[in-house]
Amino acid sequence: MTRPVLIAPSVLAADFAKLGEEVAAVDRAGADWIHLDVMDGHFVPNISYGPEVIRAMRRHTKKFFDVHLMIAPVDPYLAAFADAGADLISVHAEAGPHLHRSLQAIRALGKQAGVVLNPGTHESVIEHVLDRVDLVLLMTVNPGFGGQAFIPEVVEKVRRVKAMIGARPILIEIDGGITPETAPLVAAAGADVLVAGSAVFKAGTEEGYGRNIAAIRAAAEAARG
Ligand code: DX5
Ligand code: ZN
Repeated sequence: MTRPVLIAPSVLAADFAKLGEEVAAVDRAGADWIHLDVMDGHFVPNISYGPEVIRAMRRHTKKFFDVHLMIAPVDPYLAAFADAGADLISVHAEAGPHLHRSLQAIRALGKQAGVVLNPGTHESVIEHVLDRVDLVLLMTVNPGFGGQAFIPEVVEKVRRVKAMIGARPILIEIDGGITPETAPLVAAAGADVLVAGSAVFKAGTEEGYGRNIAAIRAAAEAARG
């Protein structure tokens, strides 16, 4: 039961002066999901944007909004992101002491729930929440910035998480350093959704976004066989 690989361009690498046009452009260029990176300058050493900016982008595309929260605390802000138009909200296992409560809160808001692991965090910390999530996001860079190099040690973790998930209907998403060169490594290991920021937006034109999305998709699909 191999699902098609989904490509989720990360808006972090877009031109922030024209976010509406940028999300509409990647939508037309073949993006499956839109990946939205929220950073607070506390949990991660960078600040990006919050719910009102996501609400503004929501008017420019109907694509699935995949919201990756890199903030602590997270619980006080979940309702704001749900209201702003998130379809799925992912929270880091490292972001606070009450992961289970955060995931319950996301589902209570009527949204899909995801759990994220930094490259250095062992997958055992999410074993007890697998029945509460729709997606596991494995970071292949240390969160905070786009354009970093893929950390290859995570590929084995993708395999282990895939085995741990078993028959549960949970997607595995990979985030960080995804290119046509690295996509096959994680696709072969079991990834379902690939986030790509710089590898998509570096083109700077809608045609280029289309070529870049297609190249990542083709490389990933070929590796899945
Ligand atoms: C990093 C973010 C990523 C980032 C990926 O903290 O979670 O989504 O935008 O950027 P690239 O694809 O350039 O590594
Ligand atoms: Zn992300």
